[in-house]
Amino acid sequence: MTLIDKLGRSVSYLRLSVTDRCNLRCSYCVTKDFKYTPHPNILRYEEMLQLIDIAASLNVSKLRLTGGEPFVRLGFMDFVSSIVKSHEDMDLRITTNGTVLEQYVPELKRLGVSRLNISLDTLNKETFESITGCDYLEKVLSSISACLSAGIHIKINAVAMKGVNDHELGSFIEFAKENPVDFRFIEFMPMGQDTRWTDESFWGADEILEQSRQFATLTPIKRTAESRGPAQMFSIKGGKGKLGLISPVSSHFCATCNRLRITSDGNLRTCLFSDKSYRLREILRNPKLSDKHILQVLANATKDKPLGNNILQTRTGSEGVCGTQMSAIGG
Ligand code: GTP
Ligand code: 5AD
Ligand code: SF4
Repeated sequence: MTLIDKLGRSVSYLRLSVTDRCNLRCSYCVTKDFKYTPHPNILRYEEMLQLIDIAASLNVSKLRLTGGEPFVRLGFMDFVSSIVKSHEDMDLRITTNGTVLEQYVPELKRLGVSRLNISLDTLNKETFESITGCDYLEKVLSSISACLSAGIHIKINAVAMKGVNDHELGSFIEFAKENPVDFRFIEFMPMGQDTRWTDESFWGADEILEQSRQFATLTPIKRTAESRGPAQMFSIKGGKGKLGLISPVSSHFCATCNRLRITSDGNLRTCLFSDKSYRLREILRNPKLSDKHILQVLANATKDKPLGNNILQTRTGSEGVCGTQMSAIGG
């Protein structure tokens, strides 16, 4: 059985958030009144492994672990190890803020986790502190170096924000020239009710590309089945790394979306922009129900997977596209 929706999109990619807790407070992600999910409502690792087994049986071949910040959850590396052991063929990736990552790099390498996405919105110490609330830029940079030395492939995610990091464009491109990384700008998305998103802060992909051409000769890289992701990538003449643009707001990629998300409290979300969620935790914890029921929910929910851009179009002004902030969904 394969997961396929009414529009013919097949789902082969699951993003699983292991925690909504994070050691940073990024301004575009966390809102001030956010309350963490109480511990009993967070899925246990065994429950997450059960969901991964079910997803694998439905031909999900790529799994991305996200947060909050996944590495702050106790026992996370043992969880990664269990996944690797039971799903050798799964393309396993992790998205992290990179602040506590460095100590885990050798073990990740040993386990064969060879691709990490790291958030980094600035190369300036003060700006880092003002975006995230913490003075951890050096920790992130040294995690990136440790990964590169270990041969782990790195994608860097920078949320593009006018008035915050647009003046650093030249430095970002220099960074991508000097380091073998995919440096990707993500358009700021208006997530959550209290989002700080405004028209003025929005720095669109077209504008970023035009401005980037002042600093480097960029050539678009053709998307292949392998690189089928949200980013349009560009090679940088004379550079070791590449530049990428993720444009969920200005030019959506919903038609080719192949992903489902499960939050750490066990809610299945079929679209980043939709609040519609399907409660899996209650099924997992009901002794009268089995994997078959979960499988059915996954299949039925996938059928109704929306086109997120239609939801985005219905919002007005600076309001959030959905009620949930990013740290609770995992990006
Ligand atoms: P790879 O392509 O496998 O590296 O993963 P990714 O780019 O999907 O993973 P990552 O966690 O780095 O996500 C980058 C960002 O792209 C996400 O945080 C979102 O901002 C955006 N994005 C990813 N998937 C979607 C999606 O389905 N819809 C929208 N609107 N944005 C997405
Ligand atoms: N808009 C765009 N990207 C966001 N992220 C978090 N919140 C937002 C937002 N409002 C990014 C993080 C991380 C990725 C998973 O999602 O920077 O890299
Ligand atoms: Fe934490 Fe990532 Fe959200 Fe920043 S963007 S607060 S690092 S979950």
